[in-house]
Formats: sequence, structure tokens, C-alpha cells
Amino acid sequence: MASNNRRSGSTVPVPHWCETPGCSNKATLQCPTCIKLGIQGSYFCSQECFRGSWNLHRKLHVTPQADKDQSNFYNPWPNYRFTGTLRPYPQAARRVVPPHIGRPDYADHPEGIPVSEQAVRGSSQVVVLNDEEVESMRVSCRLGREVLDEAAKVIGIGVTTDEIDRVVHEACIERECYPSPLNYYQFPRSCCTSVNEVICHGIPDQRPLADGDICNVDVTVYHRGYHGDLNETFLIGRCSDRAKKLVQVTSECLSKAINIVKPGERYREIGTVIQRHAQQQGFSVVRSYCGHGIHRLFHTAPSIPHYAKNKAVGIMKPGNCFTIEPMISEGTWRDEMWPDKWTAVTMDGLLSAQFEQTLLVTNEGCEILTQRRANNGLPYFMDNM
Ligand code: MF3
Ligand code: CO
Ligand code: CO
Repeated sequence: MASNNRRSGSTVPVPHWCETPGCSNKATLQCPTCIKLGIQGSYFCSQECFRGSWNLHRKLHVTPQADKDQSNFYNPWPNYRFTGTLRPYPQAARRVVPPHIGRPDYADHPEGIPVSEQAVRGSSQVVVLNDEEVESMRVSCRLGREVLDEAAKVIGIGVTTDEIDRVVHEACIERECYPSPLNYYQFPRSCCTSVNEVICHGIPDQRPLADGDICNVDVTVYHRGYHGDLNETFLIGRCSDRAKKLVQVTSECLSKAINIVKPGERYREIGTVIQRHAQQQGFSVVRSYCGHGIHRLFHTAPSIPHYAKNKAVGIMKPGNCFTIEPMISEGTWRDEMWPDKWTAVTMDGLLSAQFEQTLLVTNEGCEILTQRRANNGLPYFMDNM
């Protein structure tokens, strides 16, 4: 989703500082083992400092599976106070997309900047797609749905989110799609996996999913110039009644919002409908991340808040394409970010769930371009209900 005002960002490279306790020199050397494991940071000013810190530093390389001793758990950010119980695990090696597959501009930008998106930043004009463009959106969205279906086939207890990322990555390639998240503002992987207190933008890693987790898988594909974006939250094994209710209510919030989509409706009404239902059921609406226009650009106008009394601009017209993707939390609506600058978590560490579809406004109402083609279009968590 588009974040509210977070990435107005400059592209100036950030300096790094030596991680040896007490040393505050500028640092450019990075620990080679950390690079291999995908551990962020780990800069040192000199070989001396690196060697001197080794006995402390090497603890970062130990994976939880290899060592059950708490003191040796992988912790890339020893000074960060986690809001909940989820922890990052090491990531797999970077994946590549074969060169015959068409790529968005940011795929090859050194800082992952989507130059074409930034060119129209600040404009609230919503594009009206012509018939040919609509047909292209139908195709990308159908392929995106197929990719999420592949992830749904493998997700479960003991499966790592990195394994889900691998399945998503390969399913994209098989369908001549570039996995849109890969290198978007330098996002390191091919989909987002958001577990328990993670609101969105969780980075797939080597953590195996556990009985009772909830896990959102967010897939976006780029096919022949057009993006299709969708996500679902999955129940892993036997979940608490509270978790099940949260997931149910979140999916209802999305359905109720979709039901008002038609020409002439105000974009700002979407948030009214979502917050009314979430609040009635005792849950809160995340405010920092919004639905977004989508077509040749991944995130563009309109920006669609999911909360009430918002200031979204514009009315819906046939040919508009956008996502609705409410994030609903068990406790507070407030979010914070892990030091990886991606993972958004609830500030109280309680659960958050999300569902997303890409929609096309039609003369009659709307078409859910990313709708599931089995089980009457119902989400996976409802399959055996
Ligand atoms: N798919 C997300 C959305 O719904 C965006 C993910 S961007 C990434 O808008 F860089 F985090 F992958
Ligand atoms: Co989206
Ligand atoms: Co998405």
C-alpha cells in the first residue's frame, strides 16, 4: 500500500557508523557473513575494529534453529525494543528474474526508485483506462491471483515465509511476470509476508510458521506493463477465537467497502464504511497505509485511507483502477516500523490482519479483478467453514 507521507525521501546515501561499542568512526566495511545472511547494517570502520568486535558480533550469525540458547538468538538490532513476540530471522540469498521478463523502471534503479511514479507524485488526477488498458489489467490481476493461489497451496505449519517467497517468485516467472515488490524502494524480496503483529510489508525470512499464527501474503505482479495487487490473511493451524474473529471482520470490511464502489461514489466514503464495521466489532483501523491507484504504476492516485473522516480526493469513474486493502488491528491502530524500515507492526504487539483486491470501476459498479475463481470468490480462511 502507499504509505502516508513516508517516502517523500531524498536519495542521498545514508552514512554508516562503526558498530564497535565505543567507536563512533564513519564506517564503510561491511561484515561479509552478514551480507551473505542478509543481516542489515554491520558496518565497521577498520579491520582492527571488526576483529576486536568479532566475539560479540558473530552471535548475530547464529540462527535460532541452530542454537536454542536465548543469548545466541539472531538479533540484528540489539537495541530495538520489539512491540510483540515476533522476531526477524535470517533471509535467503537474493533472487533474480530472468532477463526475458519485462521489468518496471525501479527494478534496475540503484536505489529502487520508481521514477515514473515520482514523475506524477502530488497529482490527484485518477487515470481513466481505455478498453485495451482495462484488458491488460484483467490479465495481470488474473495472473496475480494465480500466484497467490500457488502460495495458498504450500502455506502451513512449519513452512518458512522464505519458502512462500520462493514459490511466489517462481510462480511469477512461470507466468512471465516480474514480482513487483522486488527492489521497489529496495524491498529485498518478491512478496510481503506479515505475521501476527505485523501490519504489512513483512519481509519473508527463515522463520517457520507456527500453529496459531496468522500470516498475510501480499502478491503483486507486473505483466506486460501492468501491475495487479492482492493479499489474503491465512489462519495457520488452530488459531484463537479472537484471531479468527479479527480475520473474519477484516475480510468483511473489504467486502463492505467493495459493495459501495460505483461511478459517482466519493473515494472518501470507503474509509467510512470500513471504520464503521471495524469499530462495531471492537477493532481499530490502521491509518498510516492506504489503498492506491494501480495500472502502469504500482502506487499512484487516488490514495484511499481506510479510516473515517478522511480527506481522500475525487469521485469514482468508469475505467478507474485502484486497490482497497484495509489493515485492522486487535488493539491500537498505531503502528511503528522495525529498524529494517519495512516491517510495520502494531505498537501494542497485538494482532493485525489485512485483505486486498484490485478493482475496476464499471458502468454498473465494479469488477473485482483479483477475485478468487474457486469457492465463490471467498478467501482461503473460509474454505472449511
Ligand atoms: N503490495 C503492497 C501493496 O498492497 C505493496 C508492497 S511494496 C513492497 O500496496 F515494496 F513492500 F513490496
Ligand atoms: Co496495494
Ligand atoms: Co498488495
